[in-house]
Amino acid sequence: TIVPVILCGGSGTRLWPRSRAAKPKPFLPLIGDKTLFEAALLRCPAEGGFAAPVVVTGHKHLELVEAQLGTVDGAQVIVEPAARNTAAAIALAACRLPEDAIMLVCPSDHHIGNSDVFAVAARAAAELAEEGWLVSFGIEATAPETGYGYLKRGEAISDTAFRTAQFVEKPDLERAKAFLAEGIYAWNGGIFAFRVRDFLAELEAHRPLIAQGVAAAVADGRQEGQRFHPDAGLFAQVPSESVDYAVMENTKRAAMVPADMNWSDIGNWHALHEALDRDENGNSVRGTGEVEMVECRNVLVDSDGPRVSVVGLQDVIVVVDGNDIMVTTVSGVQKVGKLSGAVNQ
Ligand code: GDD
Ligand code: MG
Repeated sequence: TIVPVILCGGSGTRLWPRSRAAKPKPFLPLIGDKTLFEAALLRCPAEGGFAAPVVVTGHKHLELVEAQLGTVDGAQVIVEPAARNTAAAIALAACRLPEDAIMLVCPSDHHIGNSDVFAVAARAAAELAEEGWLVSFGIEATAPETGYGYLKRGEAISDTAFRTAQFVEKPDLERAKAFLAEGIYAWNGGIFAFRVRDFLAELEAHRPLIAQGVAAAVADGRQEGQRFHPDAGLFAQVPSESVDYAVMENTKRAAMVPADMNWSDIGNWHALHEALDRDENGNSVRGTGEVEMVECRNVLVDSDGPRVSVVGLQDVIVVVDGNDIMVTTVSGVQKVGKLSGAVNQ
């Protein structure tokens, strides 16, 4: 069986005012009626050969996590005493699982449009992990994004998998452009398959302080119902680094499974617009509020309350949430997180 390890770190300020500190991106039903966190859980069902999930999250979102997790037999929630990024978060889960278990590490800030392709890729990734590979999901790179990791496709391992010749986390724009031009780089989708003992061995080899610090915090932790609390004092000393830099850039056992699964990290309002159903003019609507658009093109309106009427605009996003109205052009979406509302929410 495969153990889903769901990472729930929160954040998502670029989707303000929908995403807020008290209820960030993973806990919102951005597409359809399931939240991104719920969708991540549903992609790993027992019928599909998945074991009960392990969710790793902080105190801040524990209530939201448990409310949306519902009652799943055998589910574990690991409560981080402090945020120490993904290397430590994954190590916490690893230290709580049998050393031969296969972990499927899933972020909770993504949308996957085609869950059948995901399921096939997950099985292929798990098989590779059984052979000792540290497996990433490769997403076709379509733009020189600097917020993603890049996987250089190496020699074929099987019909569906390749060695990762090089893993480069968040390159600068110039390198990202060069990678795109080369045509043999994929984006890292942020989903990983690891066998527990291989992950821990690689972490120990490349970041012994994280490996040992997490192991100590788990050894001194305590169980409380389905919750597990690592020791706060020991966990506070663990270095904060993402798994991409700490392990994936350094391991020699990296492999990739290309997965054309209609993936989006919904990193901003335009990405959400593109993942929603759009009408013949490229307009999209979400929320329960009344919306009227006349002679609009490529406009997204999101409102639960006030009626929103838009006339003659192009490439614009209008979001209404409570007492906040946010309006931006498509080209401004990256800066939404800098608005004082988003910063001080
Ligand atoms: N529990 C927990 N604790 N979860 C965390 C923490 C933490 O300290 N930090 C981050 N997470 C969760 C986030 O909520 C998200 O679901 C996932 O781990 C990935 O973290 P991000 O902070 O969103 O990473 P990123 O988007 O900058 O980069 C990663 O994802 C990209 C794809 O979206 C990398 O893996 C990139 O290589 C990848 O391309
Ligand atoms: Mg992310």
